[in-house]
Amino acid sequence: MRELARAALPRPVFDFADGGAEDERTLRRNESAFDEVELLPRPLDGAGERDLSMTLFGHRLALPLIVGPTGLSGLFWPNGECCAARAAAAAGTAICLSHGSICTLETFAATGATPRWMQVFIYRDRGFTRELAERAARAGFDALVLTTDNQLLGNRERDIRNGFAIPPRFRAADLAGMALRLPWLWRMRAELPRITFGNYVRPGETADIKVLAGRMASLLDPAMSWADVDALRWIWTGPLLLKGVLHPAEARTAIDHGVDGLIVSNHGGRQLDGAPASFDALPAVIEAVGGRIPVLLDGGVRRGADVVKALALGARACLVGRPQLWGLAVAGEAGVAHVLDIYRREIDRVMGLCGVSRVANLGPDLIFSRPRLTDMKIC
Ligand SMILES: Cc1cc2nc3c(=O)[nH]c(=O)nc-3n(C[C@H](O)[C@H](O)[C@H](O)COP(=O)(O)O)c2cc1C
Repeated sequence: MRELARAALPRPVFDFADGGAEDERTLRRNESAFDEVELLPRPLDGAGERDLSMTLFGHRLALPLIVGPTGLSGLFWPNGECCAARAAAAAGTAICLSHGSICTLETFAATGATPRWMQVFIYRDRGFTRELAERAARAGFDALVLTTDNQLLGNRERDIRNGFAIPPRFRAADLAGMALRLPWLWRMRAELPRITFGNYVRPGETADIKVLAGRMASLLDPAMSWADVDALRWIWTGPLLLKGVLHPAEARTAIDHGVDGLIVSNHGGRQLDGAPASFDALPAVIEAVGGRIPVLLDGGVRRGADVVKALALGARACLVGRPQLWGLAVAGEAGVAHVLDIYRREIDRVMGLCGVSRVANLGPDLIFSRPRLTDMKIC
């Protein structure tokens, strides 16, 4: 799907999704970390039928995979956010809307997709954070996700090299490849001139995206603190999750502040290059949390086996960012549905091969611990 998306999208748009911060070390490590853990199957446990469903915050999900928040999804396909919402709902899973969606959160909610989560930041104007949370509550969102790792924008050098801008501008160098991207340009012809950050437009204001993007960046407050989590906890009575947790001490503190769930994440390697892979950070967070609240994981989840490994190490579910954007770029709602179906089939197959019939039975006994040479008895 990634290769199909690469072929479908203009280079700056593909790179906007595909790229990471600086040398992209964390981005690469997110995927390769999964290679270092292997699964130890027990096929004689007999898993003739597999049940992938699980319960999260009172909702039954058909599979332990959720569509994560990605800003500007509507750049990949017209009404991209709503297409992804319908695909997630049809697959029986949850989706989280980004603060930076092109559509408004109310339009997204009108799809009726559920469970639907809303992602927010802490703004210098705390009133604006409150406003978004209150709008999400009124629009019937089921959970609020506070992303903590994006208060300063990461240094995404591919975007700088490509001159990526919103709305997209294409330079002479991009035009050579544009002929093959005409279907995207044609599909997006009505959308491009009115692309905006829907949630930031206030009634009566113009929706000029440059003004809004500038306001958004200047609004984010790197000086946020636990007091802000407390304030949000006060406003939002439903499940509150923190996204961007990597440190076990932060995970413990989050529980003290009444947070209901954590997403172990490094923003898909788009923010702090040099942060550990989410999968590498997971075990220490799981240990710190000790089963008190659900811990989810995103970053580099590219196969059903990756989901199974994360769950075996204690995660309750995984989220995917880029893969759903590739699905959108290739075929809109049907593309996201296809991506989710690939994951579903792969999780099912891997569980079957491992001899595990229920998601709740995925545990650390499934993880192969490689004998170290120093532990071996040399005869
Ligand atoms: C194009 C793009 C936009 C994103 N926008 C947001 C966002 O607005 N808010 C957020 O919390 N995370 C955002 N993320 C991060 C994702 O939610 C997620 O953490 C990350 O993509 C997971 O890694 P993966 O892409 O390897 O699956 C974005 C990711 C991408 C690729």
